[in-house]
Amino acid sequence: MTVEVTAGVPAVDGVTLAIEVRGLSHAFERPDGSSLEVLRHVDVSVPRGRFVAIVGPSGCGKTTLLNLVAGIEEVQSGSVAVSGEVPRCGNQRVGYLFARDALLPWRTVLGNTELAMELAGVGKVERRARAMALLEEVGLAEMANAYPAQLSQGMRQRVAIARTLAPHPELVLLDEPFSALDAQTKLLLQDAFCRLWGRLGATVVLITHDLGEAVALGDQVVLMTSRPGRIKRVFDVALPRPRSIVDLPSEPEYHRIVQELWAELREEVARR
Ligand SMILES: Nc1ncnc2c1ncn2[C@@H]1O[C@H](COP(=O)(O)OP(=O)(O)OP(=O)(O)O)[C@@H](O)[C@H]1O
Ligand SMILES: [Mg+2]
Repeated sequence: MTVEVTAGVPAVDGVTLAIEVRGLSHAFERPDGSSLEVLRHVDVSVPRGRFVAIVGPSGCGKTTLLNLVAGIEEVQSGSVAVSGEVPRCGNQRVGYLFARDALLPWRTVLGNTELAMELAGVGKVERRARAMALLEEVGLAEMANAYPAQLSQGMRQRVAIARTLAPHPELVLLDEPFSALDAQTKLLLQDAFCRLWGRLGATVVLITHDLGEAVALGDQVVLMTSRPGRIKRVFDVALPRPRSIVDLPSEPEYHRIVQELWAELREEVARR
């Protein structure tokens, strides 16, 4: 393995890295003043344009890891680089989406979709055109003038996805974005997200508890151990693209990876 640095952006064997996490350890202070070790010596490299899913037992530090990559949490030990730079909260090239969307109730669907672009300084005409195209893509163009209170949870999450992708982020960080949805809405949204990602070419890191989702969407699935979270194993998903999320469950290879993941995750869940 050769690690090179070209114009500040690191590369391994000629592949440009969107994220490079090296020897990352993290601890929080408990209410009694003692230390809670959350991450221990985590190493992860995510090549540019790759879709990486992260799975692991509850409380193993997945959200903490994502917060460190987003620059929301400060690095204590080890290093994190995003496109070769120290992560910075508010970086317009990074989109962050949580399980529970936070749409502004006083803005319409269109207004909410335009929000991140507004903050990124995209002009009004361009903003509107991009927002409408994305709303069309997630099947919500007809609801452009509705308010969040008039939408179902699935619709709100679709707006949140459109808003996250609208500024064309280079890196998209997703923390269980589909977890609050019913099974059918979830499949439709995963499918829509996968299509959009295919077009935008962004690097994606997705945290999920749904192993099927991790395999269906990811190029790689990173399995973490129970706390303190370490990388247990990285699975390559050799399923061809473009993928039809709805049809994947009939693929033997999909089942094989899900089973293998579950066998290893189970050991970790039992350890908690
Ligand atoms: N700001 C904080 N202060 C103190 N403890 C924290 C803080 N954030 C997280 N923790 C603790 O760190 C541990 C890891 O939390 P984290 O949210 O990263 O886990 P997770 O893997 O995302 O879990 P889940 O799958 O349930 O979302 C947990 O024990 C949590 O209580
Ligand atoms: Mg979490």
